[in-house]
Amino acid sequence: MKKILITGGAGFIGSHLTRLFVTKYPEYQIVNLDKLTYAGNLENLKDIEGCSNYTFVKGDIADLAFLHSLFNQYDFTAVLHCAAESHVDRSITDPLAFVTTNVVGTVSLLQAAKEHWKGNMEGKLFYHISTDEVYGSLGAEGFFYETTSYDPRSPYSASKASSDHFVRAFYHTYHLPVKISNCSNNYGPFHFPEKLIPLCIHNIINHKPLPIYGKGENVRDWLYVEDHVRAIDTIFHHGRVGETYNIGGHNEWTNIDLIRELCKQMDAKLGRPAGSAEQLITFVKDRAGHDLRYAIDASKLQHELNWTPSLQFEEGLSKTIDWYLANTDWLKNVTSGNYQKYYEDQYNKR
Ligand code: NAD
Ligand code: TYD
Repeated sequence: MKKILITGGAGFIGSHLTRLFVTKYPEYQIVNLDKLTYAGNLENLKDIEGCSNYTFVKGDIADLAFLHSLFNQYDFTAVLHCAAESHVDRSITDPLAFVTTNVVGTVSLLQAAKEHWKGNMEGKLFYHISTDEVYGSLGAEGFFYETTSYDPRSPYSASKASSDHFVRAFYHTYHLPVKISNCSNNYGPFHFPEKLIPLCIHNIINHKPLPIYGKGENVRDWLYVEDHVRAIDTIFHHGRVGETYNIGGHNEWTNIDLIRELCKQMDAKLGRPAGSAEQLITFVKDRAGHDLRYAIDASKLQHELNWTPSLQFEEGLSKTIDWYLANTDWLKNVTSGNYQKYYEDQYNKR
């Protein structure tokens, strides 16, 4: 029987991943370890909290002594490592928090797995969930391949690049069985409203300005979160140990075009006159070191493991908006308290 430690399972991607594994594999024991930072929310997992193959543990991945005791208690056979500080703007304000969780936390987990599995690595797996931002920024042409040299440019991407390097170092030095995937921007339900899409959905609902950094010409490659966790499931079970797989949607949008599409769909769904949401678009001071373009080549995953995205972007965006409109209480809960202060600090100065 597999006993799997999922870290960061109360966050955006982690909650979708946890739900998929708990419901699809009732024979696996899943432990979700999460510190419950501002980004972690057990409401995201309400529908599975009573499942007999699911346990939640509150704790910090940077606490090695605690990790040792957790490994001793549960005797994990695999780790799906999702926990991270994940927001670029916060990394610009507080880079050390990103080093602590993303670098020290990842190395602590690697260390705990290595110690616990030493002498018997057979059938074990440390799966590290990472981002395409480690590759840096593209110009108008080209794609990120698994072989693209790392060139991180924000404190967030530098910390994720560092964690990827440590995962590979543990593979080569200690033969820890590892896999890494680097995914493009995700969107979907339970996305914390500090990121572009949920922030703009929240602001449109509340008739608030939609802050677009610079001229809105930066390009991101968007993937529906359920397609991402389906890819992780595929790589976890069928990918080759020691390999890296890029995951992406072949779905590039400039920020301004994306927000215009969002505005159009939201006006229709809210029964407001066409063009009302677009009037909220406000160009604000650009992000420092703002990466121009990300675009993933996911052909290795497609050819080797037969994975392709299942949703067209307009359809995925429509499902996402519907979820937020049906879950205004969730949105209200996560945007009360500390969120207000974060929002004022981030946007009043722009
Ligand atoms: P998120 O910020 O929504 O969730 C992160 C989770 O980790 C939260 O539940 C938080 O409480 C938890 N956490 C943070 N610090 C912790 C610590 N020290 N110990 C234990 N738990 C801790 O992040 P997300 O968007 O779901 O991203 C998950 C992973 O996927 C990250 O590693 C991120 O780099 C990667 N990723 C994200 C995207 C994206 O578009 N969101 C794309 C590619 C890769
Ligand atoms: P974000 O969702 O923060 O993801 P990432 O920076 O990891 O790609 O931002 C997506 C894009 O949207 C990015 O180019 C920055 C831009 N952006 C805005 O224009 N305004 C905003 O308020 C935010 C949060 C992001």
